[in-house]
Amino acid sequence: MSPDLNSKLPDAGISIFAHMTALANRHGAINLAQGFPDFAPPEQLFAYLDEGVRSGFNQYAAMPGLPQLRAAIARRLEYRYGCAADPETGITVTAGATQAIYTAISAFVRPGDKVLIFEPAYDSYGPAVRINGGQALYLRLELPDFSIPWDSLEQLLSTETVRMVLINNPHNPAGSILSADDLLRIGELTRRHNSLLLWDEVYDLLVFDGNRHRSALEFPTLCERSIVVFSIGKTLHNTGWKIGYTVAPEALSQEIRKVHQFMVFSVNTPAQYAVARFLESHSEFTDDLAQFYQTRRDLFLQCMRGHPDFEFLPCHGSYFALARFQSAGRTNDLAYAEHLVASRGVAAIPVSAFYHDAYDPGLLRFCFAKKEETLHEAARLLWHGISRLPSS
Ligand SMILES: Cc1ncc(COP(=O)(O)O)c(C=O)c1O
Repeated sequence: MSPDLNSKLPDAGISIFAHMTALANRHGAINLAQGFPDFAPPEQLFAYLDEGVRSGFNQYAAMPGLPQLRAAIARRLEYRYGCAADPETGITVTAGATQAIYTAISAFVRPGDKVLIFEPAYDSYGPAVRINGGQALYLRLELPDFSIPWDSLEQLLSTETVRMVLINNPHNPAGSILSADDLLRIGELTRRHNSLLLWDEVYDLLVFDGNRHRSALEFPTLCERSIVVFSIGKTLHNTGWKIGYTVAPEALSQEIRKVHQFMVFSVNTPAQYAVARFLESHSEFTDDLAQFYQTRRDLFLQCMRGHPDFEFLPCHGSYFALARFQSAGRTNDLAYAEHLVASRGVAAIPVSAFYHDAYDPGLLRFCFAKKEETLHEAARLLWHGISRLPSS
């Protein structure tokens, strides 16, 4: 007799990212769907990885992370945000930001606890809450600029006891950023029930046009209730290394570590070594990252300017640009995205995938973390379609 699976995630199937990628591969399309670079990480990182392996960094690292990596991270946080995070007690290295988010939710959310998620939202948030028995409460960010619906937030917090609020800043897929006032207002509104604040700041270095990222770590009144999550993968073009970290006050970090040690115990040692060495010796790389991506954003948007089928929304941060599309008779964004792969040879993500109820704001997400020639070719295809490609 087959076992009763009693699935914890009965509705979870193949992700939209896998679906669009499979489709892109089938059609030989350019993949602007998946959120990772098509260029290599810095060469020096490879040398440090080799150095780490050859100089003995091959056994389990310390559970909270290699000390030299935590020290390098602490220096980076001090430099960027004036935040004196203690590497001993406040920084925990994780297997990517996804594990950091899951672990933080697992550490603090008990069955029945309510967790507030703004949508559109990164796809792991809701399932992580549900697996841990929590109840996700969803609030839609307001179009056209994806601003926080302050009145609805205030109303919700006056009727519900919310254990945790998840905030993504800079935002994937919206490309929006929060101001210092926004951060403080969230802090103020959530003070009443002493809700924990889980900040997903994986795109912290990708803020454009002379603006600067405002981290929760800059504000002591937020810090005491905050867990802030970062991703090395988004910083060093090495998403496949899966290294991230949490920053939190000692008491919160202790709880996170209790779960972390039984979930993964520790993260790939030579990779931690290489990242530590790189962060210490190449600060210019992270200093230049915003300009690096801004150039790609500008190139892609410039190439797409005036296109009759796509109207791009402003992108202030992250490496994603959203576009409204002329639906050409397609009934929803997924159908349009599928049509686009087949007819134009470019894959994008339909934004309904970022809503738990598949709400469809009529937008597609394009990832511009790509080589300049990839972006040029994608734009050319979006203008002219594959039918006009020279046959080879
Ligand atoms: C908003 C957001 N949070 C978290 C992650 C996960 O980061 P990592 O690859 O470090 O797990 C991503 C990756 O796409 C993301 O876009």
